Amino acid sequence: NIKINIAIDGHSSCGKSTIAKGLAKKIGYTYIDSGAMYRAVALYCLQNGLIKDGVVDEPALKSSIKTLIIEFRPNSMGGADTYMNNVNVENEIRSLEAASAASKVSTIKFVRQTMVYLQQQMGKNKGVVMDGRDIGTVVFPDAELKIFVTAKPEIRAERRYKELLNKGLDVDYDDVLANVIERDERDSNRTESPLRQAEDSVVLDNSDLTPDQQFEWAVSACKTAI
Ligand code: C5P
Repeated sequence: NIKINIAIDGHSSCGKSTIAKGLAKKIGYTYIDSGAMYRAVALYCLQNGLIKDGVVDEPALKSSIKTLIIEFRPNSMGGADTYMNNVNVENEIRSLEAASAASKVSTIKFVRQTMVYLQQQMGKNKGVVMDGRDIGTVVFPDAELKIFVTAKPEIRAERRYKELLNKGLDVDYDDVLANVIERDERDSNRTESPLRQAEDSVVLDNSDLTPDQQFEWAVSACKTAI
């Protein structure tokens, strides 16, 4: 059985990871959350005072990124948790603050180069489902299947709001919507690998689809590719 790489890109909070995880499990591939890596870099900056007045101290980050260890380790639920310098940061990186800081650090060229290199290493033997913003365009331009996921901002905010509430985080819907819009804007307009749909990708607008319907859609897209 020849393995392929599957790239799933799209806007913030549109369910990319749910689709990617479900698909990876179904076909026995490894799921990799590339956004978690940018979130871990962001958390490092937040914890070490490298973001002042919303601005990243690039020289300081540049010297520490060389020693920063970001990795995924299996957890007891059959998934993987994100570790930064040997500490499990899976929960901390999911906050709105970390998300917003991630969209800032991810505009920096050397940050992207470092993450892209790590991601390419993780996918070099194929059999990977990776989600993010630049997977089909930059990380795996040769991915055999590229899916571009999107949905209306209000619907994405609503879903993310419920998810954060379920995790016990104290959030406000308007803040979540503002965060989604702010990240769309920054991700789409940055100079370094902006979010864009790869020409050879298939688009999934899941505004009106249930998770089950999205899963079915992805499985059939996958059958055509493998
Ligand atoms: O996917 P997630 O929302 O966890 O990503 C957090 C942030 O990391 C995004 O808003 C985006 O700015 C950045 N990101 C990126 N490239 C990726 C994955 C995430 O720039 N491949």
